[in-house]
Parts: sequence; C-alpha cells; structure tokens
Amino acid sequence: MIKNNLINLIRDKRARVGVIGLGYVGLPLATEFASVGIKTTGFEVDEKKASEINAGRSYIADVTSETIKESVDAVRLSATTDFDLLKECDAIIICVPTPLRKTKEPDVSFILAAAEEIKKRLRRGQLIILESTTYPGTTDEVLMPMLEATGLKLDEDFLLAFSPERVDPGNPQFKTHNIPKVVGGVTDDSTETAAFLYSQIVNDVHAVSSARVAEAAKLLENTFRAVNIGMANEMARLCYALNIDTWEVIRAAATKPFGFMPFYPGPGIGGHCIPLDPHYLSWKARQHGFDSRFISLAEEVNSRMPEHVVQLVSDGLNDDRKAMNGARVLLLGVAYKKDIDDVRESPALSIIDRLRSKGCEVRYHDPFISELSFDDTHTASSGEPLASVQLNDEEIKASDCIVIVTDHSGIDYQRVVNLAPLVVDTRNALNGEVRKRSAARIIRL
Ligand SMILES: NC(=O)c1ccc[n+]([C@@H]2O[C@H](COP(=O)([O-])OP(=O)(O)OC[C@H]3O[C@@H](n4cnc5c(N)ncnc54)[C@H](O)[C@@H]3O)[C@@H](O)[C@H]2O)c1
Repeated sequence: MIKNNLINLIRDKRARVGVIGLGYVGLPLATEFASVGIKTTGFEVDEKKASEINAGRSYIADVTSETIKESVDAVRLSATTDFDLLKECDAIIICVPTPLRKTKEPDVSFILAAAEEIKKRLRRGQLIILESTTYPGTTDEVLMPMLEATGLKLDEDFLLAFSPERVDPGNPQFKTHNIPKVVGGVTDDSTETAAFLYSQIVNDVHAVSSARVAEAAKLLENTFRAVNIGMANEMARLCYALNIDTWEVIRAAATKPFGFMPFYPGPGIGGHCIPLDPHYLSWKARQHGFDSRFISLAEEVNSRMPEHVVQLVSDGLNDDRKAMNGARVLLLGVAYKKDIDDVRESPALSIIDRLRSKGCEVRYHDPFISELSFDDTHTASSGEPLASVQLNDEEIKASDCIVIVTDHSGIDYQRVVNLAPLVVDTRNALNGEVRKRSAARIIRL
C-alpha cells in the first residue's frame, strides 16, 4: 500500500522531500524538513535563488544563513532548477505564488506549471501536496485530473493533499514548527500520510475530511482578517470625522475579556495574502451564483485607505498654508508591514503614486527596502523608481510632511517629531510619551 510504504520511509527518515518554489513559504518549510534529518530538495525556476541556497546563503529574513549552511553542508538540503530530480522525491510540496489577474480573477498558472513538471515525472508511490493558497476545488478538480491523465491512479499509485501555509513573515513568536497545520487529503490515505509527514516538523497537525475543507479554511482565515481590518479602517475614518482618537477607542474596547478581538486600522492592506486571497473565495462564489458581499465591502473600504492618507497629508499641508504641488513628502517605511523586506501590494506604492500625481516631491526611508520600482499597476504618476534616503537631521527638516506608513522598529521617532514640521502617523507608531514631547504637528489615522 502506498500509504504504509510512505509512512515507513518518513518514519525512518529515508523519505526524500521536494519543495517546489523556495520563497517566503517554501524556503522555511524546506529548511524545517532538512533540520529534522529528512533529505530535502528545493526546486526553483530562479537560478539565482537555487545557487544562493547551495552556497549556504539565505535571502529570506526569517531563515538564517547559518541554518541553511548547516543543512547544505550536511547534504540534507540542496536546491536545483533541474526538475528531473522530482523523480527521486517521495513527497513533493508545491509552494508557488498564486497572484490575481488584472481582472482580480485567480491566476493559478504557477500551480499548473509546477503540476506539469510533476506530471511529466510522476511515479508510483509519490505523495503530492499543494500549499499555495487557492480556491476550494483546486486540488481535486484541477490537480487530480492532471495527475491521473498520466494513467496512474489516486490511492493505488499516488496520494494527493492540500495543506495551507500559515507562516507569518517577521513574526518571531510563531514559526513553522509552532503554527498548527491543517491537512486535508483528496482521499483518507492522502490525509493520513500528509499529516504524518507534517508531524515530523510541526507540533500540532489538524486533519480535516477533504482538501476542499483545508482550502476553504485558509480562505476563511484571511477573509476574516480582511473584513475585520476593513471594519477597523471604517471606524478610523469615522473617528477622524468625529475627532475621536481611534486607537484609544480600540484599546478601551479590547479590555472586554470576551467577544471582542482587536484589529487595527492602517494605510491599507498589503502583502501576498490579505489583499489577494479573499478574491479567490469570491471568484469561486461567483461560479456558484453567490455574491460574497463582506469580501466586496472590505475590499472597497481597505483599498480606499491610501486615498484617505493622502487626504490627511493634504489637510495637514493646507493648515500650514502649503500646496501639495511642490511639497516635499518623506515616507517612513514602504514595506507592507513592520520589520520585513516585502513591498508586494504595499499601500506605500499607491500612496506615493497619488502624492506624485498631485505634484509632491516624494522621498522615502526604509531600512529594509533599498530601492522601489513601480509596475504598470502603480503608474498614475511618472512611476520613476526611488531609492531609500538616509534618515538624517537635514532630511527630516527639509520635509514639509513625514508620513509614517510602516512602523518599523529601530526608527528614532522622537527625533522625527522633534525636527519635522508635520507628521502623519498611520500606524500609531508615536506613543503618548513621544507625542507629548513633539515639536511637530501630528495627524493620526
Ligand atoms: N508570504 C506569505 O506570508 C504567505 C503566507 C501563507 C501562504 N502563502 C501562500 O504561499 C504561496 C507562495 O507564496 P510565497 O510568499 O512563498 O511566494 P514567493 O513569491 O515568495 O515564492 C514563490 C517562489 O516560487 C518560485 N516559482 C514560481 N514558479 C515556479 C515553478 N513553476 N517552479 C518552481 N519554482 C517556481 C518563484 O521563483 C519564487 O521563488 C502563495 O500561494 C501564497 O499565497 C504565503
């Protein structure tokens, strides 16, 4: 039986794991398997990433180069662009991107490309797991027929499961091993085998009855966040209009020990997950004639936040009798969240574009992002690339307005509010003490 054979191989650490896509998700995962003594091969289309790994160097902040080097030196971890090596793997985990098309429809082309590589080499005895976030039905409606087109049969010849990734880049408390893992197979054997594989690296595995349940659970988690952040953002705009401190309101509400979970407003949502994943669910809903109204509303509210931030800058400059046109605006932080080097879908891109189209001279400082380029989705203005500037006294003083877009730690916010004339704080980065001793006028979201 495929299941028993695989379980024995995994238990004896003789199983080989292949991870397709060594990005924010795939690299930490591959490293975890390697560090418990399971031989792991990472498959990449990006040759540079593969050679960095083989040279023992990490390009993902959450994984240290020492960890990679140790596993590479011990011949437990390697990376390759040669997909023929997939044949040698007993378990293959797909961790490729799942973006949206311009029409906001799911783009599963990376999953299909990875599955095509597997299909060409699928052999009896393999377990295939999809980890990329996607709509319910991808694993059994799309992957299963592709793999069975080889003539091999599910359960008799191979196993197939979905297990969503929940990694939170930059979170020092929760890493792969202590984030419970949901696993749902297309068949029971698939579930049990995939759950056993993950139990080698994760403390708590939660098996569900199907791949679809696992796919839907992931989308519920991220839709829940998008909707609640949307409500916090709406509350922030209302509080601004009513001249009430949003953050104080949330702090007060959060003292309730049951029935309330705090979510916080911000300049807009970013990253590869929260802005995108709900669209996977609403697309699938539309296929079934269902209108997912919470998702649409959250998207509408959240996507308007950059516009609101620009309005706050405009209001602040106006009070100083300054025009947007020609004003020098410095953004503090452009990453989509604190202490990470990821600008995907960052609201900073939209804020910069809007400020530039009003004639502002925009500069930015971000210790994690040295350069910023703009693709065709952010080009209402010139779209000229920018480089991070030094946050020195001259830079701060020369700015007409400073906008805290990302609340990175390690920034001397006191110095900023001592030297700048106007600061727009979208993240509550300036605590009460800093605000009390501020020389700048501060506008908070
Ligand atoms: N980043 C997160 O915080 C996070 C969290 C949970 C889930 N996810 C989900 O995990 C999946 C991967 O996201 P990510 O952030 O790791 O993406 P990423 O862009 O950081 O990494 C994906 C990697 O896959 C490689 N790749 C693309 N096509 C390939 C192919 N055909 N064969 C081999 N390699 C290929 C790319 O070169 C890249 O290195 C997505 O579905 C995402 O929604 C991401």
